[in-house]
Amino acid sequence: MPKVKLTDFTLAYELRGAGLPLLFIHGYPLNRHLWQAQLVGLSDAARSLSPDLRGHGDSTSGSAAHSMHQLAQDCFELITLLGITQPFVVCGLSMGGYIAMAMLRIHPKSVAGLILTATRSTADTPEVKASRDKSIQLAQQEGSGPIIEAMLPRLLSPKTLASHPELTSQAKHIMASISVSTIVKDLQGLKERPDSTPLLAALTQPTLIIHGADDQIVPLADAQALEKTIPGSQLVVLPAAGHLPNLEQPSLFNDAVRQFLKSIPNEQK
Ligand code: MLT
Repeated sequence: MPKVKLTDFTLAYELRGAGLPLLFIHGYPLNRHLWQAQLVGLSDAARSLSPDLRGHGDSTSGSAAHSMHQLAQDCFELITLLGITQPFVVCGLSMGGYIAMAMLRIHPKSVAGLILTATRSTADTPEVKASRDKSIQLAQQEGSGPIIEAMLPRLLSPKTLASHPELTSQAKHIMASISVSTIVKDLQGLKERPDSTPLLAALTQPTLIIHGADDQIVPLADAQALEKTIPGSQLVVLPAAGHLPNLEQPSLFNDAVRQFLKSIPNEQK
């Protein structure tokens, strides 16, 4: 897998297909393998790019904190190093969605379209911030194991857990390599992220929202709120899918993306 040297770390990524650039940003505590079915399934429809964020997957850890702003800057740096100069579509899952929002804050003109999945526009409530602090403490005291074990049953739909053991072990495998320091840095960055609701309310880019009907981490109500906030956006709810709808319902997810890409103005392609 290719790697590039960024300011303070080495970033691993995958690039597949041709045409309109489509950047897939994974969530916490995941990595680029989350998007395998999209890179393969959409290779005829887009030039798909999926990085391992700093500290994740095969990327090394940098010295900087994992603010959503920093993670967005890393994505821009990768895009520039790959020589992509045309506007691209960004698809972010959960924390990846928060990073996509940070990219819109930094350089809105480079984003031709937005796909938000399993995410929300709001900042953490005081209760969520307190629970992130508890998770940081738990990870520091007991390692990544208890964090991953507690997250797995909430990550996938009960239907996926009951009838797709291969997806359950895939999700587990994707999370398995995360280090304690990356967990801590991610949670800190998540906790400090700003409210992106006003930014999204003023959005002019075509936007698709894809959400799992059974998401226990980001409830469907948050996706419905996104649809209300973002002018002209469309919400697609996938059945029998939890917090990883692209992994749990790859065909339906890819169909929705493929359809959406047709709405991107021709001059951007
Ligand atoms: C994620 O999946 O990226 C995180 O669960 C996001 C969050 O906790 O807000």
